[in-house]
Amino acid sequence: MQKKNLAISYELYSSLDELDSIAQNLCRESVKAMKTSHSPYSEFRVGVAVLLESGRIIYGSNQENVAYPSGLCAERVALFAIGSTYPDDRIMSMAITAQTDRFEIREPVTSCGACLQVMAEYEKKQVHPIDVIFYCLNGSIIRISGIKSLLPFAFTETRLKK
Ligand code: THU
Repeated sequence: MQKKNLAISYELYSSLDELDSIAQNLCRESVKAMKTSHSPYSEFRVGVAVLLESGRIIYGSNQENVAYPSGLCAERVALFAIGSTYPDDRIMSMAITAQTDRFEIREPVTSCGACLQVMAEYEKKQVHPIDVIFYCLNGSIIRISGIKSLLPFAFTETRLKK
């Protein structure tokens, strides 16, 4: 048996003004995106703003359903909209934020495994790392370049071949 360690690197910011202006703007847009969250069951709003190479910003918010598994996370709402509407416009950066009236969120909310898997798919498709920014309103910010750091053991296409 061998014991192995994996190291990932990410950036941690203590406030929005430490970020470059493009990233700051994207974080602010992710806050706007939360307005369309349909989350009557969890009361947990998630907003995503995705910057495409063309300069377009695409929004996503979590969309829940009374049949719980039929709902979808904000990240996948945004990414699938891009995949189906702007498939050739490269994803440069995405900002994700969350809010609830039930308690104070003190740290950035990071994406679920299913959303990371979908991010990995689009990153592989475009052959260009996606810059992911997890923004905690009035708190810290985690920024990671490339989904490999978020999902180092991701299932990949190579596994489908001999
Ligand atoms: N949620 C997201 O939108 N993104 C994630 O990565 C994790 C969770 C949503 C799903 C559900 O509507 C609510 O947050 C509570 O889990």
